[in-house]
Formats: sequence, C-alpha cells, structure tokens
Amino acid sequence: METLDVTQIEPRLKHPTIFQKFDALSGGEAFVIHNDHDPKPLYYQMIAERGQTFDWEYLKEGPEIWEVKISKLKGKEKPLTIGELVAEDFRKAEVFGKFGLDFCCGGAKSLKEVCEEKGIDEKEVETALAEIESQPKNRQQDFNSWELDFLIDYILNIHHKYVKESVNMLSEFSSKVADVHGENHPEVIRIAGLFETIARELEPHMQKEEIILFPYIKKLVAARRENTAMEPSPFGSVEAPVGMMEAEHVAVGRSMDEINRLSNGFTPPEDACPTYRTLYSKLDEFEQDLHRHIHLENNILFPKAIQLEKELLG
Ligand SMILES: [Fe+2]
Ligand SMILES: [Fe+2]
Repeated sequence: METLDVTQIEPRLKHPTIFQKFDALSGGEAFVIHNDHDPKPLYYQMIAERGQTFDWEYLKEGPEIWEVKISKLKGKEKPLTIGELVAEDFRKAEVFGKFGLDFCCGGAKSLKEVCEEKGIDEKEVETALAEIESQPKNRQQDFNSWELDFLIDYILNIHHKYVKESVNMLSEFSSKVADVHGENHPEVIRIAGLFETIARELEPHMQKEEIILFPYIKKLVAARRENTAMEPSPFGSVEAPVGMMEAEHVAVGRSMDEINRLSNGFTPPEDACPTYRTLYSKLDEFEQDLHRHIHLENNILFPKAIQLEKELLG
C-alpha cells in the first residue's frame, strides 16, 4: 500500500495533497499517511468535507511517528444499521446509550430511523459518533475482527459467568427491597417481579446457547479452519436456533427496559436505604452487561455464523 510522507510536503500543500490522493481512490482502496504529529485536524477536515466516506485507522500512534491508514468506503446501497455501527466499533455503544437508543435488540434500524422515532437530532448523534471515532482504538476490544470460537469463549467467560454470578444476589436484594419499601414505593414490587422473570428466562436461554448453538458454531469454525466436511445439524439451518435466541433476547430486553423505566433510570429515591441503592446500581450494571452480551450475539456472532454456514453447506 502506498505511503505518503506528509513531513516532506510543504505545509500549505499538506492537506490539499492528501485530499487529492483520497479523491483519486476507488471504493475499497486505501493509502497510508506518515506524519510527525497526530493528524487529527485532518480527520476533522475530512469528516466536514467528505462526510462518512472513509475509514480512519491508526497504525502508529506516536510519540514520534504517526501513521494512519485512510480507506475510501465502498458505496453502500443501504446505510448501516445502528447494530452494525456498534459491531464495527463498540465504543459507539456508549454514544447510543447516552441518547437512549437501543443498539442490541432494536439494532436492526438505521440511525435516521431511530432518531426519527425518538425525536432526536440525528446531527447531534453523528457529531458524538465522529468524536469517538477520532480517538485511537483499543485493538483488544475489536470484537468484530475476532474468530467466532474466541468470541464464543469470551461471551461465556465474561457475560454468561456474570449473569450466573449476579442473578441470585439481585433476586434476593430485589425481593428484600420489595418487602421493606413496597408500601411507599410500589414500583419496587413490580421490579422484583420483572427481575424474577428475567432470571427465570435467562437460565434456560443460556443453557441452549451453551449446549446446542455455540458448540455447533464452533464446529462450523473448525470445519472451515481444518477444511473438513460439515455434517448437517439435527435442527436444520442455524437460522432456526438463532431466530429463537433473538426472540428470547427481545423478551428479556423488554423486561429490562421496563425496570429501567420504573426505576427512573436506576435513580434511588431520597429515602432509599443502602440495600435499595445497591440494588439500583447493580441493576444498572446488569443492564449494561446484558446490552453488551446481546449485542455481541445479535450483531456479530449470529450473522457471521449464518454466513459461515451458508459458505460451508451452500
Ligand atoms: Fe448468551
Ligand atoms: Fe443470548
């Protein structure tokens, strides 16, 4: 790939030369700029003048040398959905979370659509997304580039383990708070009931993933890696269990949304005791973990498994 040494270009010609080079690229092509300081001002100028038509990837991040790969995106017929945007760059989850946009279960819509639905200014969200995109990426969390078997182990070790470790404590706390404060704050009774439903639904849900779906996806990965034949599964296409898991995600996600709403975004009332406060902060943590967990499955693991199965079995 061609590297443009920006340090060798006369200052007033730096940006025009880079723009010229970028404009000459076809979709999917890229070049690298080599610089002696962080070229972030260029990033902002490109966002302002060329919009979301390029990808900006730091290859070297100082302290003496900065190298950025600038790629021109292929023209897309359809804008990316917000789930796909988060799959590309998980840091965007934080932005969507801040604007109250659901990227995991409701992730199949474009930014324009969700903003219209929620009455949010799309430009404001785009600015926040561009801001986060301009920060150097932590490559360890680039879930989208992980092999699927590794991603599955991550989901099991981080998210399934977290759910198993926290449901009992949360069930206990929520029923205790409901008993003590239910009279003054009837919403906590409803919250305890909703959390019970979540706990009851998540256990068999995760079991199905652990015993049936994930081992099958791991087999697909192994078949491709070792170039061996793949036996058809007893459940037909992977799309069947995936569809079931997605429907269950929607159900659990709805109950969690309802808890969020009833608790006023996990804000304890002034007279709340320490247990009440702990319950709300743990529920907040549980919701964040659940969104991340469902996102990794719905937006990354499942679509890639469906694609892989198609490639292997036709
Ligand atoms: Fe899961
Ligand atoms: Fe799941």
